[in-house]
Amino acid sequence: MIRTILHYPDKRLRERGKKVEAVTPEIRALIDDMAETMYAAPGVGLAATQIGEAIQLFVIDIADSDEPSDLRVFINPEIVESQGEIVWQEGCLSFPGIQEDIDRAAKVRVRALDRDGKPFELEAEGLLAVAIQHEYDHLQGLLMIDHMGPLKKRLTHRKMLKREEQAST
Ligand code: NI
Repeated sequence: MIRTILHYPDKRLRERGKKVEAVTPEIRALIDDMAETMYAAPGVGLAATQIGEAIQLFVIDIADSDEPSDLRVFINPEIVESQGEIVWQEGCLSFPGIQEDIDRAAKVRVRALDRDGKPFELEAEGLLAVAIQHEYDHLQGLLMIDHMGPLKKRLTHRKMLKREEQAST
């Protein structure tokens, strides 16, 4: 089922995700919904907090549109190592129409559980590393706007308020 993606400045985007105690059939159904919602958007990542489910879970698929899908599920993720710096032009499904350069670590090592509840560790760089950091932020209630300088932050805030105002009329 496709879920509604919350848009900034919805306060629920500021909630911290709670730890997932067990990977139940309900959690797996939620993962299916999140994947469906992400592909329909379309986007390369989606965090549970973006659909109003405040738990530690996100999905990512960075495969090109002409490649087979490559869904990655991260439950209770922890970034255990970050290295280097990279600037990446990022977008976010909670900030439609916004694309901004954001500073990120170039490489990360992440530990998480997969959709079967099995622990895994992954070293990522490039787009995958950026996507992991972006989605990980969501689970802490952090958003791309928090990484912007004061001017871009004000501009983005205003753009989003205007957009949401227009959407509601
Ligand atoms: Ni996002």
